Amino acid sequence: MCGIVGAIAPQDVSPVLVEGLRRLEYRGYDSTGVAVAPQAGTLCLRRAVGKVAMLQQRLDAAPCVGPIGIAHSRWATHGGVTEANAHPHVSGDRIALIHNGIIENYVELRSELVAKGYAFASETDTEVIAHLVHDHVKLGLDLTAAVQQAVRRLTGAYAIVVFDAQQPDRIVVARIASPLVVGLAEGANYVASDVQALLPVTKRFQFLEEGDVADIRRDSVTIFDADGHPVQRPVHESSLSADAVERGEYAHYMLKEIHEQPRAIADTLSERIVSDHVLEAAFGPRAAQVLPLVQQVHIVACGTSYHAGLVARYYLEQGARIPCTVEVASEYRYRNPVVMPGTLFLAISQSGETADTLAALREARKLGYVATAAICNVPESSLVRESDLVLMTRAGPEVGVASTKAFTTQLAALGLLGLAIAQRRGIDRRIVALYTRQMRQVPEMVEHTLKLDAAIRGWAQAFSDKHHALFLGRGPTWPIAMEGALKLKEISYIHAEAYAAGELKHGPLALVDHDMPVIAVAPNNTLLEKLKSNLQEVRARGGRLFVFADPNTGIEPSEGVDVITMPDHIEPLQAPLVYTIPLQLLSYHVAVLRGTDVDQPRNLAKSVTVE
Ligand code: AGP
Repeated sequence: MCGIVGAIAPQDVSPVLVEGLRRLEYRGYDSTGVAVAPQAGTLCLRRAVGKVAMLQQRLDAAPCVGPIGIAHSRWATHGGVTEANAHPHVSGDRIALIHNGIIENYVELRSELVAKGYAFASETDTEVIAHLVHDHVKLGLDLTAAVQQAVRRLTGAYAIVVFDAQQPDRIVVARIASPLVVGLAEGANYVASDVQALLPVTKRFQFLEEGDVADIRRDSVTIFDADGHPVQRPVHESSLSADAVERGEYAHYMLKEIHEQPRAIADTLSERIVSDHVLEAAFGPRAAQVLPLVQQVHIVACGTSYHAGLVARYYLEQGARIPCTVEVASEYRYRNPVVMPGTLFLAISQSGETADTLAALREARKLGYVATAAICNVPESSLVRESDLVLMTRAGPEVGVASTKAFTTQLAALGLLGLAIAQRRGIDRRIVALYTRQMRQVPEMVEHTLKLDAAIRGWAQAFSDKHHALFLGRGPTWPIAMEGALKLKEISYIHAEAYAAGELKHGPLALVDHDMPVIAVAPNNTLLEKLKSNLQEVRARGGRLFVFADPNTGIEPSEGVDVITMPDHIEPLQAPLVYTIPLQLLSYHVAVLRGTDVDQPRNLAKSVTVE
């Protein structure tokens, strides 16, 4: 969501801060700011509405130079997108503070601080923390103790980073329910909300845990747990390269990430299938103990990851013959669900930091599941660290806010889970072997499908002036239609809905006229004839059809029916992954034609770490 960077070093830290923000910009990007202490007793603050480039312009015109500083990119929660609401927030001309998360009791704290004489310069919940810290420092506490006292008063979620310009010897940080990572280097130390921000300066990281407070100085890092006791957190060496988030020759990250899918899917499958058998160890050391106990699976996720879960229901029920339910995390976490014995809880998340999904996992841990499992793309994430079983997708960093390669790698990982459970449930070995072979063919099929790009671009014009679009699918490609609709609305701002094609006649058919493009995914499966009848219902009402069809469906181009023929021999197991590709490309080209910000669409953020 918001991006956090902090640095303390022998030299000017402002270039590291701004580069860190640039590397996190995709996560939240409506305003930015930086605070630096050029020397003890002075504070240099620059903030700007808009992206990091705007902040850079401010800094070019009036630099902030100093050996200690913090920087933030904001995705607004409390208070509009204004310079006054941008972080850092300052108290008493000395305390500078940035914050990710939401403080739930800020109204009460604000009244208390106003009564003490504090004047508020913003509408944010964050500013109360800056004044609270100042209130304790003013009484003579050192900054670390002041932060420890201040956070005791907070309810809600936070990652905070703060320094005192009058004593610029340390940065103090604290977290609950929002990630923070300390970056370690020689004679300099750093902090950020994500390792990506710090990869140009270090590969050595310590991940802070719930309730931790850390005192970060140039040559030391001291971490205290929630009870105030000094603790050691392990040092991890990151294998990510600093240029993994560069765009290269592509016009947008999203396009790059669409084209990375054959490799990303192959990497996700690699070393996890041996001789047509899925290795249970891929899910972690506890898998052999847990999988035999699993009688049903309960999947919880948000957005695109939720759509992956909906596909998985078909894999698990049709393929592995095990009951599966799927729901969105924001509903699950407050629903007080009834958990049947032998149920595996599975969270799916690209980032592993989505607040609703993490809260659902934490709720699930209290509810008597046989185990919790995560399918995730970020090894260092909270979701991975807190789940019993983990299967990592290997998509590499995904920068475009619209998820692409994370989704198809989730589908590959879910295919592996389905196969691992099928093996345990005694499904015929020949069928399991056939499915594993089919999974392995997917990267090549995706490669072929990407070659349809020019034809798909040719369709984009027909959508660019539309206000609405309808996506249809049936069976396991119904969630693919849902994902196609989400992609189109996210990046082109065209209102799009997806329906199981059989539902059309129960209401949405009323919307169909010549101005409503209808996109259908038509793989060759047992539901094909039913889907064809549904498409006839659209044509009969004057609706214009755009169909991605298997070559053997008999769906031909005709008046009002455009067809792009997909590669031949796509099996039902493979279809969800392969049919996703043209829908991603279609959304991309429509968005480019409409001139929207493809990688950073309005109002959204990559990682939604607030509720
Ligand atoms: C995808 O295009 C979205 N931007 C969004 O729906 C996303 O999938 C959702 O916020 C969940 O994120 P996660 O996978 O990181 O948990």
